[in-house]
Amino acid sequence: MGGGPPTGHESGCGAPPPYPWGVSIPTLEQLHAIGAAQQPTYPDQAAVTKAVERLRTVPPLVFAGECDELKDKIAAVSRGEAFLLAGGDCAETFDGVTADNVRNKLRVLLQMAVVLTYAASVPVVKLGRLAGQYAKPRSSDLETRDGVTLPAYRGDAVNGFDFTPESRIPDPQRLVDVYNSSAATLNLVRAFVTGGYADLRQVHTWNNDFVRESPYAQRYELMAGEIERALTFMKAIGADPDEFHRVDFHSSHEALLLEYEHAMTRIDSRTQLPYNVSGHMVWIGERTRQLDGAHVEYFRHIRNPIGCKLGPTATPDEALALAARLNPENEPGRLTFITRFGAGKVRDGLPPLVEKVTAEGVQVAWVSDPMHGNTFEASTGYKTRRFDDVLDEIQGFFDVHRALGTVPGGMMVEMTGDDVTEIVGGGEEIDEHGLAHRYESVVDPRLNRVQSLELAFLVAEMLRARTT
Ligand code: PEP
Ligand code: CO
Repeated sequence: MGGGPPTGHESGCGAPPPYPWGVSIPTLEQLHAIGAAQQPTYPDQAAVTKAVERLRTVPPLVFAGECDELKDKIAAVSRGEAFLLAGGDCAETFDGVTADNVRNKLRVLLQMAVVLTYAASVPVVKLGRLAGQYAKPRSSDLETRDGVTLPAYRGDAVNGFDFTPESRIPDPQRLVDVYNSSAATLNLVRAFVTGGYADLRQVHTWNNDFVRESPYAQRYELMAGEIERALTFMKAIGADPDEFHRVDFHSSHEALLLEYEHAMTRIDSRTQLPYNVSGHMVWIGERTRQLDGAHVEYFRHIRNPIGCKLGPTATPDEALALAARLNPENEPGRLTFITRFGAGKVRDGLPPLVEKVTAEGVQVAWVSDPMHGNTFEASTGYKTRRFDDVLDEIQGFFDVHRALGTVPGGMMVEMTGDDVTEIVGGGEEIDEHGLAHRYESVVDPRLNRVQSLELAFLVAEMLRARTT
């Protein structure tokens, strides 16, 4: 993203009918026949067909060429030449698509990236969990409150968060709303990225209206001062490269709902190959990575860079089999394994996977998701995580890779640009009672602005140790 307007000869232009060149991608019906986990049960099939038909005709949100660029960058990540920073909400919401919200999220990601780049002298590949992150897998189909049982909330892509029978009915019109909300989000992100807001000379501006008492905001301020002086020096000697003025930023989400993802798949007119044009990178979640399931079958046909979550139950053979199915040509940058073991399990659970995958010569980027293995319910009833556990899982991830001589390629975090109180600990020392102060997430707890910045400084130290 940030490479200027679409050139018109990329994927998706003049779309229907889908797949006119007979490129083999399974039909939606074939995928459903294989069996897909975590899909909603829609009461009105005609309405589903209508939404899917609509989505098949809409313009792409991203271009195949941009997906290829990201793939090349992830290949660099897997070689240890760059670090991947992925971040955003656990679940985006339609109400959350406001200018402030999107800007705040982008701003913290940019701040985190600059901290990682400056403190560790490593390029950072920036990936938003945004513009499509609206569908959630759930461990239970139902939710019970005060003796009332209703279908679980599955993300704004499926049903409403309100705990009423009407709101919890899956509504396929929401799939079209996902597209529109994603388009609005990406439009804003592209404007920020190309319109000067992401210019490195704004490094101070990103810190504006930050809680000044936060030692990390102060530390950032000092670093921004150093960067600014370096930029001024460069300018004085006549160097003002393009890279200072633009930033590369890409979008990603869990491709969970077959209807949406299939309808947003297009044949790229340059290569005649299928791409999911709803996000640059898409990933398979921990609950839908069955080797013989519909998600793996769908993912193996698209050409985007893709991710696959691996939790504590994943065996080395499973990881190998997934890699063989999802990346049979062993193309670097194509496949990222996003590991999410939990702080207590990563040091024992991760090495066998990395060892076997590496020994077989399989090309993958290893990325840590330090969030999903560390969730628990606080005494006050809130779903939360401890900042120290998040940090410890990342440290474990770095330790494992250092011991094996492999590359800890990046991290994917759930974070927001706002001052929410959803994760306990960190420099602000939010405790379990403090969670009630401003808990806004509709699914999983997110790092707030200060915690995100703090994490970036601490991970920068690990990254520096990686490269020395
Ligand atoms: C997520 O990333 O929000 C998620 C649900 O993760 P996982 O599939 O790893 O549980
Ligand atoms: Co989550």
